[in-house]
Amino acid sequence: MRSVIDILDLSTDELEALTDTALDIIAHPERYARACEGKKLATLFFEPSTRTRLSFEAAMYELGGHVLGFSEAASSSASKGESVADTARIVSCYADIIAMRHPREGAALAAARHASVPVINGGDGGHCHPTQTLADLLTIRREKGRFDHLTIGLCGDLKYGRTVHSLINAMSRYEGTRFVLISPEELRVPDYVRQTLESKGVPYEQTADLDGAMPELDILYMTRIQRERFSDPAVYERLKDSYILTPDKLDGAKGDMAVLHPLPRVNEISVAVDADPRAAYFRQALNGKYMRMALILKLLDEAKNPAPAPEEGLIYGKYRCSNPRCITAVEQEPEQIFRLTGGVCRCAYCESPVRI
Ligand code: NCD
Repeated sequence: MRSVIDILDLSTDELEALTDTALDIIAHPERYARACEGKKLATLFFEPSTRTRLSFEAAMYELGGHVLGFSEAASSSASKGESVADTARIVSCYADIIAMRHPREGAALAAARHASVPVINGGDGGHCHPTQTLADLLTIRREKGRFDHLTIGLCGDLKYGRTVHSLINAMSRYEGTRFVLISPEELRVPDYVRQTLESKGVPYEQTADLDGAMPELDILYMTRIQRERFSDPAVYERLKDSYILTPDKLDGAKGDMAVLHPLPRVNEISVAVDADPRAAYFRQALNGKYMRMALILKLLDEAKNPAPAPEEGLIYGKYRCSNPRCITAVEQEPEQIFRLTGGVCRCAYCESPVRI
């Protein structure tokens, strides 16, 4: 059964096709209004959400389908100790497709391995968030007209910002992409993300200086400092206002730069920036709904003739993941799974390197 856990589960051709479908939906919404008649989407949100959950739900309604689910772990049997794996098995009896968000890294993969319907990852802890990347990609296509030869500044919490990790994976596949990774030293991208860039030979630089980077950027992707992922609140307090984008800072930017943000914003973009035509973040949130419509259509269509999920390159059972934020730290899997990437053995759920 085809699920989307990581943005790399979709090929570049598939990403292009999804953006084409989304643009067609925007142009001809009436052609899609009954496309999912009789189908049900379950939204399983174990962690707070506004855009992701509601845009998934709006997407299914606009396709003529139905929605069921929960918006917090407290109102599900997770509060009684039920595992993600069992929840996924059960919900597969009631729904045709699942969109889920969970605070643990790898939770969506754990669900997909036990569900009998497609699972879409709506965010797994600080790991990844592929459907936000779909929203980002449609925004890039509509604002910039292309995916290649772009210098992309990612600014803020690059360590815990799961949207950043997925966007880097997606944009690394296009020719001429260059990243400027702007963050305090403590919030730099995790090593598995840096290794992806290095193994693919994608140029990047790490800096703490937003103003210095500004003039060369085609896209500035701002992010919130992810308070809920810090183990020490004092560190969050020290770092929370590291970057605040204001209209005067934008004076140094290209006239056609696009400012993206997955939202919610806290303090990192002043509301005075909203009136600037380069501020694309509210358009980006709307784009997310159209891309989720396109993805639901694609996965439900493929589920009519399910092919076995490809399992190449997986190593079963030999080790244990030591990442305390990984789903496997709290839920038993019959066998843990690992993947060898760039010569490093990583947990297949959370991508942490495994000590052999
Ligand atoms: C993001 C997320 O949940 O990771 N929000 C979203 O889905 N648009 C970003 C964030 O919470 O900062």
